[in-house]
Amino acid sequence: MSKGRKGMSANEIVGTGIAPEPNPWLAQISPYVGGDAGAPGARRMIKLSSNENPMGPSPRAIDAFRRAADRLAIYPDGGATQLRGAIGAAYGLDPNWITCGAGSDELISLLCLAYAAPGDETIHAQHAFAMYRISTLAVGARPVIAEDAGLGANPDAIAAAVSDKTRMIFLANPNNPTGTLLSGDALRRMLDAVPLNVMVVLDGAYAEYMRDPDYEQGFRLVEERPNVVVLRTFSKIYGLAALRLGWAYARPDVIDALNRVRGPFNVSNPALAAGEAAMADQEYVAHCALQNEVWRDWLCKQLARAGAPSPETHCNFVLPYFGEDGPRSAPAADAFLRSRGLIARRLESYGMPGHLRITVGSPDDASAVAAAVADFMRAPSPDENGA
Ligand SMILES: Cc1ncc(COP(=O)(O)O)c(C=O)c1O
Repeated sequence: MSKGRKGMSANEIVGTGIAPEPNPWLAQISPYVGGDAGAPGARRMIKLSSNENPMGPSPRAIDAFRRAADRLAIYPDGGATQLRGAIGAAYGLDPNWITCGAGSDELISLLCLAYAAPGDETIHAQHAFAMYRISTLAVGARPVIAEDAGLGANPDAIAAAVSDKTRMIFLANPNNPTGTLLSGDALRRMLDAVPLNVMVVLDGAYAEYMRDPDYEQGFRLVEERPNVVVLRTFSKIYGLAALRLGWAYARPDVIDALNRVRGPFNVSNPALAAGEAAMADQEYVAHCALQNEVWRDWLCKQLARAGAPSPETHCNFVLPYFGEDGPRSAPAADAFLRSRGLIARRLESYGMPGHLRITVGSPDDASAVAAAVADFMRAPSPDENGA
């Protein structure tokens, strides 16, 4: 091992104040743990732990990605001009009110960088996407948890949690990991109760799965108020999780702040090209949403019949409830599903230890999950076996 000052090893130096130290508030961060992909070298595993699109992206996006191979030596357009144009055309939005990021993860982080600092607070619901907390802690601010009403976010509790230190509220609608939905009326009531100097981030990572025409997309809320941002991702229904691509819709002053803190070429050429082509294929998106709804509802019925009912979810996953302990618990169900090559998401870290979160997947995936859960619930437990 190389020796540093005074003959001390690198390990001996860390923590002495001699070596560079990261910002002290980073110690509070538990790094994000993504959905498990199965063990390397294991037999075929079906990954249903991160809510990706089982059908993949539009074939037009795959073509565009391949064609982007000819431009790998060239920096991408840092302004994402064509992609923002395609998003604007698809959703009826002004491209000047849009900025793009390397996944909506990056946009969450940029929002924290632009609007929160040590001593500030952000608020998120009790069962909320982990990156809200991590990105808040990364800038030295304090995440405040607003208790849910049941599984779903409670807009009154969120508004009541606002203090004079609050800079931002994060709210996913529909929500991951609970699949719950707030109505437009509930969102407006909450916004009316929140001071205008508090940024409200409406995260629509799963918005495109909503087929209800009354779903509140959030875009009009951005246009009506100075303190609302909508986030969207290409990782879920658009099937481009590997390329890391997301976008924010906000007033130009907010977009300007985000553009100041982002890297100049934060989205790669292949991501820009595939994203633009995926955005132009809204027929494919509608097809994926319909497929998801049909198989999600079918799977929910099968899970209820098997004795592991899922609450209603508005996303591309189900949440069968097994309980926390005993032979029919969520950990036992998870182990059983794995033995069939089905990788679900455990929810202990989200405070829901009795549930599993399982992506609906393809018709074959959903059928395999339904059969496995039915077998698990029917299988004699060790006690019943006399073992
Ligand atoms: C609610 C929510 N927001 C944001 C993200 C991040 O998505 P991206 O892949 O665009 O970073 C996820 C991913 O699971 C999510 O569930």
